[in-house]
Amino acid sequence: MNAIVVRNLRKYYGSVKAVDGVDLDVEEGTVVALLGPNGAGKTTTVEIMEGLRKKDSGEIYYFGRKVERIDEEIKSQMGVQLQKTAFFEYLTVQETIELFAGLYGVKVDKKRVIELVEIVALQEKLKSKVKNLSGGQLQRLSFAVALVNDPKILFLDEPTTGLDPQARRHTWQIIEELKKKGKTIFLTTHYMEEAEKLADKVYIMDHGKIIASGTVAQLVNLLEMDSYIEFTADNPHVLQREIAELKLSDHDRLILPTSNVEESIHMLLTKAKQLGIVIDNVVIRRPNLEDVFLNLTGRSLRD
Ligand SMILES: Nc1ncnc2c1ncn2[C@@H]1O[C@H](COP(=O)(O)OP(=O)(O)OP(=O)(O)O)[C@@H](O)[C@H]1O
Ligand SMILES: [Mg+2]
Repeated sequence: MNAIVVRNLRKYYGSVKAVDGVDLDVEEGTVVALLGPNGAGKTTTVEIMEGLRKKDSGEIYYFGRKVERIDEEIKSQMGVQLQKTAFFEYLTVQETIELFAGLYGVKVDKKRVIELVEIVALQEKLKSKVKNLSGGQLQRLSFAVALVNDPKILFLDEPTTGLDPQARRHTWQIIEELKKKGKTIFLTTHYMEEAEKLADKVYIMDHGKIIASGTVAQLVNLLEMDSYIEFTADNPHVLQREIAELKLSDHDRLILPTSNVEESIHMLLTKAKQLGIVIDNVVIRRPNLEDVFLNLTGRSLRD
């Protein structure tokens, strides 16, 4: 059963087509990632789904029911973590959770508050003021707040942006735990690793449109490429002139897509030797979502 279905959703800001005919199918109990670069339209899309922005047109269905306005019944089933959350600096973690519970119209006793901070590993900070929390702890507090009404559906808008790798992995664990509990999770991200790690299904968004969707494996298979050989060379442009498929990345690395690694390596080394070019830092890797995005748009996901 689909928890959420979105059809032909549109939202224009003047000449900016922020959301331009988006279709989504979010199956209950799965993690779905909306992956795209800055300005792709991710926040606009989720905030319409959350009822925080008005759509120009399109349809949204929750659990099979067409929804014109996001009403109280649906709101009681969703948890929302915004891209930026403003908290009151002088409230403690506990008071913040209680405040938001009040806004959601749910009662939380001490036991439930402790349960919530334990999910996000903030139990030691229960009595700390919000202004004394680190960026990662704030992020986790907003996560706890999103869970306050024990929602069926959780919206997370870039849950790990700005976090260090350890904090990011911790957030991923929390998301995986929530999925195990049967939650439906819709998240936006511009980290392909995040989508690869968490998502049962990925939608790639660019300029307001979904340009590809599927499981990570399905998306990567679109490339019809087994592997990429990446390396540096002391004279990349000469080599590029000789080998047409060779691409130069933003990081001055040369990338050779191949479906036959052995053959390609041999060809590469032979060419380099003929031309007197020195090759170094050779890595052979599988294609990833970054490659899919690059292939579809000619641009990199990261700016
Ligand atoms: N309230 C608004 N008024 C005018 N333009 C807006 C508004 N909100 C968003 N936009 C524009 O719509 C486009 C999509 O913005 P949105 O915030 O949805 O992107 P995003 O994918 O969430 O980006 P990011 O990764 O930076 O968070 C951008 O060009 C943005 O400037
Ligand atoms: Mg955004």
